[in-house]
This record gives sequence, C-alpha cells and structure tokens, in this order.
Amino acid sequence: MKPTALSVEALLKMKAAGEKIAVLTAYDASMTQHLENAGVEVILVGDSLGMVVQGHDSTLPVTVDDMIYHCRLVARARQRALLIVDMPYHSYTCAEEARANAQRLIAEGGADMVKLEGAGPVLEAITAIIDAGIPVCGHLGLLPQSIEELGGYKVQGREQAAADRMLADAQALQAAGVDMVVLECIPSSLGKRITGAVSMATIGIGAGPDCDGQVLVLYDLLGLTPGKRPRFSKDFLTEMGPGKGISEAVQAYVKAVKSGEFPAPEHGFK
Ligand code: KIV
Repeated sequence: MKPTALSVEALLKMKAAGEKIAVLTAYDASMTQHLENAGVEVILVGDSLGMVVQGHDSTLPVTVDDMIYHCRLVARARQRALLIVDMPYHSYTCAEEARANAQRLIAEGGADMVKLEGAGPVLEAITAIIDAGIPVCGHLGLLPQSIEELGGYKVQGREQAAADRMLADAQALQAAGVDMVVLECIPSSLGKRITGAVSMATIGIGAGPDCDGQVLVLYDLLGLTPGKRPRFSKDFLTEMGPGKGISEAVQAYVKAVKSGEFPAPEHGFK
C-alpha cells in the first residue's frame, strides 16, 4: 500500500462515525486522477471492465492478466484512495490458485485488497488469501460471475429464507477476516439489516441508502454505457446539464453519497 493511501482501519472508523464512504470503479490512469481529485475514498478496478471496456456481454471472459494490466494503470495515478481489484471468474477455484492469483494482483497490479464474489464454497479461498496477509473485500447479493446460475441480472434476497442466508454469509465472511463487503442489487431493507449486523464496512450498489458506502460503475455515472442504465445507477453528468465535465460529475457523486442524497428511493429495491 502507498504510505499515503487510506487504510482499511480508516474506512472502518468512517463506518463507526457514520461518515459515508464514496467508491467508484476505474480502469485507467486519467479517470483515476479525476476520482482522486474528487476525494473518492476507494477505487475498485472491477471486472465490469469486461463489459464496459472490452465489450463482452458478461464479466466471465476477463482474465487475471487483464485485471493486472488495468490495475497497474490505475495504481500509477492513485494517491490517497484504497485500491481494490476484482479477482476474475475462475481465478479462485481452489485455495492454492486463489492465493497465487491474489499475490500476483497485489505484487504486479499494485492493489491493496482483492475482491471475490460469494461465500460458502469460496470461504476456503478467502481464508487462504487472508492467511497470506492480503486483505479481502467480499461481494454478496447479485454476483455477476454467477449470472448463468442466477438466471440473469435479478434482485437477490427478496424472500425471507434468502435474506437470512445472505446475512449468515456476511457473518461468515466477517468471521473469516473480511473487512469490507459489496452488497449488490438487494432490497434496501436487507442492506440496512446486514449493515447493522456486521462490523465490516458495507458498500452498496442497489442496496439502499443505509449501507456504509456506495459504489457505481464510473461509465454509468458518466452516461457512457450504451443501452438501458440499471435502475440503481445515476447518470450524474447528463443530469448536471450542458457545460459540465467529468470532474464536476464525479464531485457531484461524492457530495451526494456523503450527504445521503444518493441513492434516492427510486434507485433502490423493495
Ligand atoms: O466489477 C465491478 O465493477 C463491481 C461493482 C459493480 C461493484 O464489482
């Protein structure tokens, strides 16, 4: 980690103080500079790059080498933000593979933390990574790497049993040593319930206003993603009107997350 970068402990203090954490994805150095200037606390090199940069229709084709390449570009411009990188599909199918790939993402990519999707069968991989001294961010709810099993991009955890399972998964991640978890596309009430039940920092994307922080795919925020925008995202750039640029849009996002103005009820799920 860069000596000037925010630590996980600093983010957990923000949770304790009720200060919202602003997170965005980035895939290159120029955008990272905009995020740094706006005071984003966490930058995620997401495997969403498979869709928004590489043009695939899912995140599944993304490789560890792709993630290392983009993470390096971001790491070069990163100053203060904590830098998280996604472990791509099929890069953590067993403990040994997970540890070796996580070590590459940290050493070659320059990340501070790796993110893995799921709990249950993934806990062994997570434990191996944490035992190697690498901090881990979890990801629950809608898991884009399991999109085929989930049958599409659908809200998760609506039924009581599924909601209870997700809370148990969050607690299992915490017990394994995970400090932060992304909650994607779940009812706002469940986002609130999990956030209140764990000491990890929860980062929501379509998980309601009560999570400890919020994340968006940068290209959605800038209106660059073609086609229909997901309900939980907001095109801050277009909504600002003519004459505004990337910096102003990212600053508006950070301000809206900090004030609790974003996400609004229309960005959430029941
Ligand atoms: O890959 C990604 O960008 C992500 C965010 C949507 C949380 O995982």
